[in-house]
Amino acid sequence: MPKKNLKVLFASAELHPFAKAGGLADVAGSLPVALKKLGADVRVIMPKYGLIDEKKHKLKKILSDVKISSGGSIKKVNVFEGVLPGSKVKVYFIDNKKYFGKKEIYWDGNDPKKFISDPERFLFFSLACLHVLPKLKFKPDVAHAHDYHASLIIDLIKASNEEYFKNIKTILTIHNLNYQGKANPKVLTVGNLTKNSLPSLKVDLKDGDVNFFVQGIMNADVITTVSETYAKEIMTEKFGAGLENIIKKRKKDLYGVVNGLDIDFFNPSRDKNIEYNYSVKSLKKKELNKLYLQKKVGLPQDKNIPLVGFVSRLAWQKGIELIDQKFGELNCQFVFLGTGQKEYEEQLERMAKKYPNKVATNIMFDAKFANQIYAGSDIFLMPSRFEPCGLGQMIAMRYGAVPIVRATGGLKDTVAKFDNKNKKATGFVFNKFSSDALHRELKRALQIYHNDKKTWKLVQTQGMKQDFSWNVSARKYLKLYKKIIKK
Ligand code: GLC
Repeated sequence: MPKKNLKVLFASAELHPFAKAGGLADVAGSLPVALKKLGADVRVIMPKYGLIDEKKHKLKKILSDVKISSGGSIKKVNVFEGVLPGSKVKVYFIDNKKYFGKKEIYWDGNDPKKFISDPERFLFFSLACLHVLPKLKFKPDVAHAHDYHASLIIDLIKASNEEYFKNIKTILTIHNLNYQGKANPKVLTVGNLTKNSLPSLKVDLKDGDVNFFVQGIMNADVITTVSETYAKEIMTEKFGAGLENIIKKRKKDLYGVVNGLDIDFFNPSRDKNIEYNYSVKSLKKKELNKLYLQKKVGLPQDKNIPLVGFVSRLAWQKGIELIDQKFGELNCQFVFLGTGQKEYEEQLERMAKKYPNKVATNIMFDAKFANQIYAGSDIFLMPSRFEPCGLGQMIAMRYGAVPIVRATGGLKDTVAKFDNKNKKATGFVFNKFSSDALHRELKRALQIYHNDKKTWKLVQTQGMKQDFSWNVSARKYLKLYKKIIKK
């Protein structure tokens, strides 16, 4: 059991249900609740973006006009407070119109008139956190920063001379190493930093840029990634995104802790987003969800034809190009859901146009629709190029959609590979990042689906029975917190 009042501050750019772009929001929104259940006092801090609905979430303003001296001027922030729904986990929102007023979470420099980069915005966020924290009457034992956006909090805590920050330990979780926060060192002035203010900056600035992730990786007491395999992968050239050597230097403080799932939200027997609730014991009703989905997306209704689902951000990481047009010749239907890079959107739309009776492409994101796809699919595709953890495959298994995944990161760690011997298989796994390899694996799955119903059902129900709850992983984080506190 944890020390009764172990206090932890989460800092994250995304938090479900307030602001979500990807899986980071799900983790930041559910891990604190799991930690709280284990007795830790966890609070979360994040920017108050324009998209966050103050009324709906019942946010209260608790601090006004906190002065932040930044880049040679004084800027002001307000702090709002809310709670994570269904829990008592407090959330603090940093409000500043210039940096967070727009609707988007990430701007990526898409601001032609008044150019403000994301690194600049998130550096300001980190700086504001340091100003605001001592005023919140909450002194964390551990500051837990997520991804590059919150990385600099770690450095700023280390560099601070204030008594308040002296004993705060730090932990950095890498959800995705490919977004690093690289910027011209000029950006540092926003945080009143110079090349000399942080000892580690000298190492970082080797290529002329400051890299927020590098700063966090060098300075955190402990670093984690969201699966054990990804922890190993990021120490290699192929997956290290240029940071492998720096990460290797921290090898003994690097841990892989696989993400959990909000199993109350993702629960086919109670999910309000799906038409027909079901469980392992009432799998017949899953069929009704398939018929419903086929009708909804305009595909022929047929309970015997296998339906293959795909729900994803349409990004390079996700291996969309492996889903070749020739897949339309297979004896199955496809339902795609997601938005992202134009070329992938067009690729999937072309496929739907060519095979209107087999392929339905939906270029949008809609959480309800997503769950209807998990519920209505027999098979779920995740052919990722790399995947730090991945949530889709776990949701799919819970909903009885058998995943076909590439053996990388969290996909490898959470799906037990089907090969005629593995009696505990929960899905299909292929190695090579190639369209042929995916095609072969999908054909193999379809073969079993059509000709060996018994085996199919076994794989399917084994997946449904897996425990993906946060409990185990939350305990691992607690252990790490306690370890660094003792250091
Ligand atoms: C990122 C990763 C994904 C992971 C998620 C939550 O979105 O790409 O694999 O599941 O973060 O950790």
